[in-house]
Amino acid sequence: MQPIEWCGDHVRVLDQRKLPREMVWIVVHDAIEMTDCIKNMSLRGAPLLGIAAGYGLALEAQKKGKTGSALLSHLEDSGKMLGKARPTAVNLAWAIQRMLERARKDSHLGKALGDILREEALSLHEEDRQACSAIGQWGAQVLPQGNVLTHCNTGALATGGDGTAYSVLKEGFRQGKVTRVFACEARPFLQGARLTAFELKQDKIPFTLITDSMAGYFMWQGKIQAVVVGADRVARNGDVANKIGTYALAVLAHENKIPFFVAAPTSTLDPSLETGQGIPIEERDKKEVVEIMGVSIAPEGIEVAHPAFDISPARYVNAIITEKGIALPPFSESLSKLMQGGNSVAAI
Ligand code: MRU
Repeated sequence: MQPIEWCGDHVRVLDQRKLPREMVWIVVHDAIEMTDCIKNMSLRGAPLLGIAAGYGLALEAQKKGKTGSALLSHLEDSGKMLGKARPTAVNLAWAIQRMLERARKDSHLGKALGDILREEALSLHEEDRQACSAIGQWGAQVLPQGNVLTHCNTGALATGGDGTAYSVLKEGFRQGKVTRVFACEARPFLQGARLTAFELKQDKIPFTLITDSMAGYFMWQGKIQAVVVGADRVARNGDVANKIGTYALAVLAHENKIPFFVAAPTSTLDPSLETGQGIPIEERDKKEVVEIMGVSIAPEGIEVAHPAFDISPARYVNAIITEKGIALPPFSESLSKLMQGGNSVAAI
């Protein structure tokens, strides 16, 4: 399933807020409409945010009116607007920077910027599709036999291909290593219950949906042999920002001696940050906590918090699976080696 599709003069975005009950497509004509889709969660998931920003800028570049340096500076403004839509997933800033660099580099070639940026956005999408398959292949090699627990949604709905952590599960299942997936619901926005359960059902992978607070119980019972999650940003030392609740899973996995794997494309690595301390954590609308599907579940006028992500310290991470290979601790060395040329799998 493709959650985003380039259609020439517009982009089709699958409205993920309505899944799994309805399949509704939103027609996006420019960077402002794309920014709205990102802010309101019609589309989400770190790699998909980058792809969406790429298409948003490509649509903007092919609009009639501005040319030359006026168009370049307009694209830079659009890039700033898109970049502010969600702060934690670094893939968004990464993709915007890549699109703008390409625009600056090739703007003198006489080719229309609209054509240049369309080409760049389509390659960004295709490269992420390929990265997802490579992540699946690498990840399946390190998975032990048995049941795997995952969090949030990291599948086709969150990426340009089969997913990050989800691709590892899918390939692991294809190879007969994964027996069953335990999918956490990912309260409060319920990406696990609504989206991952939808994808697992479609892919006919045996799974059990659990609430986030059940994870420790199933680990303690010996029902989970590995945890695989995605990431929204990874610092140089291997600290990982991911959906709220991931930190608790990392600690529980450590306590229960279960390997904890993070799967992410290299576009999720942030070499500018030494540790996870510097990662901005998005605070979302409190309504997402006190309402479920528009129905209020808590008393009015109470204090509510909604940090959408948390940081799992590198010491709880057994391996970071990327499209270029697998990084093992200590991550400051292995991640930078991997960025330079790829790393090989070692015993975990
Ligand atoms: O708030 P979301 O739905 O964009 O959060 C998504 C996640 O946290 C995913 O686990 C993450 O993007 C990593 S893999 C796609």
